[in-house]
Amino acid sequence: MRHHTHDRGRLAGAEEVVRISCVRHTYEDGTSVHLCGLDFLAHRGARVAVLGPNGSGKTTMLYHILGLLKPQEGQVTVFGVSPSEEWPTIRRHIGVMLQNVDEQLLAPTVIDDVAFSPRQYGLPETEARERAERALALVGIGHLADRVPHNLSGGEKRKVALAGALAMDPELLVLDEPFEGLDPTSRGSLLDLMSDLARERGMTIIMSTHDINSVPEFADYAYVLSPGGKIAMYGTPEELFAAPDALATSNIEPPILAELFARLRERDAGAPPPALSVADAVDALAEWKGQAD
Ligand SMILES: Nc1ncnc2c1ncn2[C@@H]1O[C@H](COP(=O)(O)OP(=O)(O)OP(=O)(O)O)[C@@H](O)[C@H]1O
Ligand SMILES: [Mg+2]
Repeated sequence: MRHHTHDRGRLAGAEEVVRISCVRHTYEDGTSVHLCGLDFLAHRGARVAVLGPNGSGKTTMLYHILGLLKPQEGQVTVFGVSPSEEWPTIRRHIGVMLQNVDEQLLAPTVIDDVAFSPRQYGLPETEARERAERALALVGIGHLADRVPHNLSGGEKRKVALAGALAMDPELLVLDEPFEGLDPTSRGSLLDLMSDLARERGMTIIMSTHDINSVPEFADYAYVLSPGGKIAMYGTPEELFAAPDALATSNIEPPILAELFARLRERDAGAPPPALSVADAVDALAEWKGQAD
């Protein structure tokens, strides 16, 4: 795990899209979340994961990015402005999928729901519909267009919310636990879609998740919150998963492959460095075996 610097080689010059500095929010019942420690940063085109135990403040942090909460202390900057104060100037560039999608799906049919933003921004009806159809296709749910959102399964609802988030082709996509309730195929397609969006369109994607196995594939880098909201760790998936003891304080277990390679190294210092996908692990272990033979 490296220290948090703003001029890391691979990000040098990359535009800063989001920054959160020592933000405090106190909910009405007195519960206080202090998102302090490291600054949270997301650069243009980066896929950034937010990890941490239940109640550590992931959703609270994303709500600050979306201007839904106003910081009591500290600073939130999104596209150079304060989202809680200047939301109207930036909202068009931001797509969101909330953790509780039921709060998000309001129209009588799926297609109307996904076309809601394009219509709200005053696009001509044919374009609004085209955008909605394109977004549904991107998420693979064209067949749900005429269904009633309320009647859909949990996973289908999440996909509709995601299509709605993509309808305006946002520059920043904010996803709160996007994999919750998705079957393995849907989860895999969502991971592929996110990497295409980041690579081909330069979309910045911020995702909170408990799905630790998705992190190596999804994230360019990740932040780890500890209880109370402290932004405790930062690094690439490889860097973070190389520090299992530190992760344990945030109640995070590294992916099983990371643990496997760490244990192998404990036994044999010549074991290969961690490979975080099955394909890479097979290559690394085959090569290691070749050396031993
Ligand atoms: N509306 C609210 N009123 C009072 N307290 C709240 C409210 N929303 C969140 N909290 C509290 O703020 C803290 C952070 O909650 P938050 O929802 O941000 O956590 P989280 O990291 O997203 O958790 P999870 O992994 O369960 O989604 C928790 O202690 C929670 O109880
Ligand atoms: Mg949450």
